[in-house]
Amino acid sequence: MDQVHIYRDHAALYDRLVGAEDFEGRLAALVVPLLVEEGVLVDVGTGTGRVSRLFLERAGRILGIDAAPAMLEVARAHRERSAHPDWQLVEGDARALPVPSASADLVVAGWVFGHFRAWLPEGWRDAVDAAVAEMRRVARPGAPIAIIETLGTNHETPRTHEALDVYFEHLEGRHGFARQVIRTDYRFESVASAAATLGAFFGDAMAEAVRARGDVVVPECTGVWIGT
Ligand SMILES: C[S@@+](CC[C@H](N)C(=O)[O-])C[C@H]1O[C@@H](n2cnc3c(N)ncnc32)[C@H](O)[C@@H]1O
Repeated sequence: MDQVHIYRDHAALYDRLVGAEDFEGRLAALVVPLLVEEGVLVDVGTGTGRVSRLFLERAGRILGIDAAPAMLEVARAHRERSAHPDWQLVEGDARALPVPSASADLVVAGWVFGHFRAWLPEGWRDAVDAAVAEMRRVARPGAPIAIIETLGTNHETPRTHEALDVYFEHLEGRHGFARQVIRTDYRFESVASAAATLGAFFGDAMAEAVRARGDVVVPECTGVWIGT
């Protein structure tokens, strides 16, 4: 199953996957302080709202944008269960955000633009440039921007990935973002559920590797690129 198919038809599966990630809360510890108290968060490619939910206590207003209606449906269910008074979810494209200029105190994009590399083999640079330009447009002057991407699932240390490394270098060299590396390990109820859930998203080889590891904790390395 490819990722387009998952975001279109299997949002609940995706939500289970990310619900198991970062059981130690390291991503929240890094990114939540980037938002001023009661500030406006714009979450680009919000998916099922996993990153937005880190900010429920902190953000005065949350605006999540995603291209996949099914992902937004799951995010809306989370929103109903949350007590957040101002959390909007809107269908839209990262390259043309339906958001006013200079309106956000923090703009995040979690695990979104890496897909451009595979989906737009010729045009990924232009797509990343357009998406970063949009993040900068909607951020208030001086407000931070954070882009989050995987550096390896079932890896204890960041792995080399020829296709993605060129995109990471683009974020740093072309756009001046600084990389921080954290672990956002998964914890599942059982090895079988780890293999089934990770395998459904990443494929059979991942399921086999997770089974072979034989641990309910599966390491994940994550890069967070922060800039303005
Ligand atoms: C790996 S998911 C990440 C979702 C969420 N940020 C999270 O951390 O779980 C990638 C998301 O990016 C969305 N996406 C991909 N390309 C997009 C685009 N051009 N504009 C808006 N959303 C996009 C997909 O629909 C999907 O929900």
